[in-house]
Amino acid sequence: MAFAASQIVRGFSSSAVRNVVIKNVTIIGGGQMGAGIAQVAASTGHSVTLVDTSDDILKKSIKLIEGSLKRVAKKKFSDKPEAGEEFIKKIVQKVSTSTDAESAVQGSDLVVEAIVENLKIKQDLFSRLDKLAPSHTIFASNTSSLSIRDIASSTNRQDRFGGLHFFNPVAMMKLVEVIGTPATSQDTLDSLLDFSKVLGKTPVSCKDTSGFIVNRLLVPCMMEAIRLYERGDASKEDIDIGMKLGAGYPMGPFELADYVGLDIVKAVIEAFKTKDPKNPLFDSSDLLNKLVAEGKLGIKTGEGFYKHK
Ligand code: NAI
Repeated sequence: MAFAASQIVRGFSSSAVRNVVIKNVTIIGGGQMGAGIAQVAASTGHSVTLVDTSDDILKKSIKLIEGSLKRVAKKKFSDKPEAGEEFIKKIVQKVSTSTDAESAVQGSDLVVEAIVENLKIKQDLFSRLDKLAPSHTIFASNTSSLSIRDIASSTNRQDRFGGLHFFNPVAMMKLVEVIGTPATSQDTLDSLLDFSKVLGKTPVSCKDTSGFIVNRLLVPCMMEAIRLYERGDASKEDIDIGMKLGAGYPMGPFELADYVGLDIVKAVIEAFKTKDPKNPLFDSSDLLNKLVAEGKLGIKTGEGFYKHK
C-alpha cells in the first residue's frame, strides 16, 4: 500500500501553523462516523488514536472498522484471502484506542471530534484538550449542524480550528466539506484540504453557515418529505420511489433519514431553527419527534420510518 501522508510534507514555523504535515491523528468518538474516519485515516498511512468513553464501545468501534475492511478486502483480494487478512491486520494495527482524550492528543497533529451533537459537550471537550495538545495541533469538528465558530470559541486556537465534515459511510463517500470560520487561518484550511485529499476524498470549501452545503439542502428536503407524509398527501414508500425514479436520488428521503439516524435529523433541524427561527423550512415535525422519543432512530435501533432486520 502506498502511504500518501508523506506527499504533503512542507515546512512549518512553530508560531503560526504552516501546512502541518498530518501524520498522527486523534479521533474523539468511535461511533459510526469516528470509526469510519479512523478507518480511512489508517488506510492512508496515518497513525490513529481512537478515543471513546469506554473500552466496550471502543471494542465495537474496532469491530466496525474490521467489518468494513473485510468488505473492501473481499473485493480487492477475492482470490487471495490470506492477502486480504494481512491487508486488514496492517490497517487495524495503525489504530490504537484510548479512553483518555487528554493523553491521546499529546502527540497529535490533528484532532477530529465526532462525538454527540451537543454544543456544550463539544465545547467542554475542546476546552480541556486545548490546554494539553501541542501548539501546532489542528482541531476539527465533524459536526453536522453546529456552528464551528461556536465550538471553537471554547479554545485559544481559533486560527487552528476548522470543520471537517465527512459523510456516512465514510469509507464509501468521496466528499469532505472543509469549513473555515473568520478566525481560521489559510494555513489551517490548506492543511485540512490537503489532509482530505490524502485520505482519497474530494474536499469542497464552505463558510461556517448552517448545514454547510449538503445538509443545508438535504435536511430541509427530508423535512418536507416528512410533512408531505404527515399531511397524508402521499405514502412514505411512494415519496421514496418518487425521489429515486423522478429525481435520480440513490435513496429516498425516508430511507436516508433512517440511514442517517432520526435523532441526528432532529438535532440538525433544531440547530438550524435556533440560528434562523423564522424560516419555515426548519419547522419541527410531530411525527419525527414522536419516533425519536420512542427510541425509533432508524437502522441503528432496528426501526425508524421503516422496520429493519
Ligand atoms: P454516534 O452516536 O454513532 O457516535 C458518537 C460516539 O461519541 C459514541 O460512541 C459516544 O460514546 C462517543 N462520545 C460521546 N461523548 C463523548 C466524549 N465526551 N468523549 C469521547 N467520546 C464521546 O454518532 P455519529 O453518527 O458517529 O455522529 C458523531 C458526530 O458526527 C456528530 O457530531 C454528528 O452530527 C456528526 N455527523 C454524523 C453523520 C451521520 O450520518 N451519522 C454524518 C456527518 C456528521
